[in-house]
Amino acid sequence: MPPFSLDDFLERHRALELPTNLDTYFAAPERAGTLLELPLNLPEPVVAEIGNALCKLDFNRYPAREAAALRTEIAERLRLPPSHTVLLGNGGLELIDLVLQGVGHGAAMLTLDPDFFMFRRSAAKHGVKVHAHRLEPDFALNTSAFRRTLAETAPDLMLFSNPHNPTSLLFPPCEVERLIAHAPGLVLLDEIYAPFAPEPDAALRLLERHPNLLILRSFSKVGAAAIRLGYLIGHAKVLERFSAWQSSFAVGSLALLAGRAILRHAALVDAAVRQVTEDRDTFIADMQVLPEVEALPSRTNFVVARFKGLNVAELHDRLAERGVKTVPLAGAPALAHCLRFGIDSRKRNALTLEHLAAVLRTP
Ligand SMILES: Cc1ncc(COP(=O)(O)O)c(C=O)c1O
Repeated sequence: MPPFSLDDFLERHRALELPTNLDTYFAAPERAGTLLELPLNLPEPVVAEIGNALCKLDFNRYPAREAAALRTEIAERLRLPPSHTVLLGNGGLELIDLVLQGVGHGAAMLTLDPDFFMFRRSAAKHGVKVHAHRLEPDFALNTSAFRRTLAETAPDLMLFSNPHNPTSLLFPPCEVERLIAHAPGLVLLDEIYAPFAPEPDAALRLLERHPNLLILRSFSKVGAAAIRLGYLIGHAKVLERFSAWQSSFAVGSLALLAGRAILRHAALVDAAVRQVTEDRDTFIADMQVLPEVEALPSRTNFVVARFKGLNVAELHDRLAERGVKTVPLAGAPALAHCLRFGIDSRKRNALTLEHLAAVLRTP
């Protein structure tokens, strides 16, 4: 038998054309502050309770009991119907990946163009064919046109984010329900940004009527991106199929105990989220005063601003020189001329707008 050859190994295990593990990319210093985290740490009483729980943790035990407890607590808090349950994962990203792995190689997925870029990456990783329905130039979802695409593509999985990344917009729940009702396969609704929407739990009410609906949530956008904890909500029998693909004990006790403490202090955490939502609305109102800018009506913790006729790459660089981090959006014609602003503390938001006004004043 020939000895191990690194060249042979690399040849046989070719990297995916689109890398799906982007840890290094996200760790780049220029990305810091652009990952749509909350600007503030978890409230102090939550951090203190996590500390206490950590001191009492049985580090020698597998996390089965903690996981079961958190699943029950989430189901109770969201008042899920008895037919439905929760599958925990190592962040929303793991669960997106799991669903694409579960629908399987050769299956077809229908998503939106544009939508969260990791959907396509997970599909590529698992050999799932991607169809994408293009949003209207104003980013509206034309439901009759979408239903035609659904009929033409008959996807095994329909997957989109709502509130929507990258546009920050919310598709109305009644329109979403019409699409779910016409989907021939599963529907995964990525609701990572639901906490910033006016009716965060509107889609949960659809679960009982639509056993094909899965909803994705995460602790990342409520101040706990560090713990990597997300969950899928769905019919117990459907989730069982996906959990079969997950590694055992996928979420460790440290994340689970933090998740449980966050739920126990839901009122404090909700207040922090509400603050960001209010600051976002103030940011948009103040931004609208600048004649060169059209800010989209965000239902997320970021704001998409369109600068018609301006070079956004240059605008991005000039803001960066002043310490203001933005992300130029790309990937769809309607996104050209758009910059993404993450909502920060009130003080930093005001500073961002001052810098923006100054940059726009001096061409
Ligand atoms: C639409 C969407 N889905 C999923 C994720 C990933 O969530 P998590 O941090 O829970 O993996 C993000 C992260 O920004 C996102 O924007």
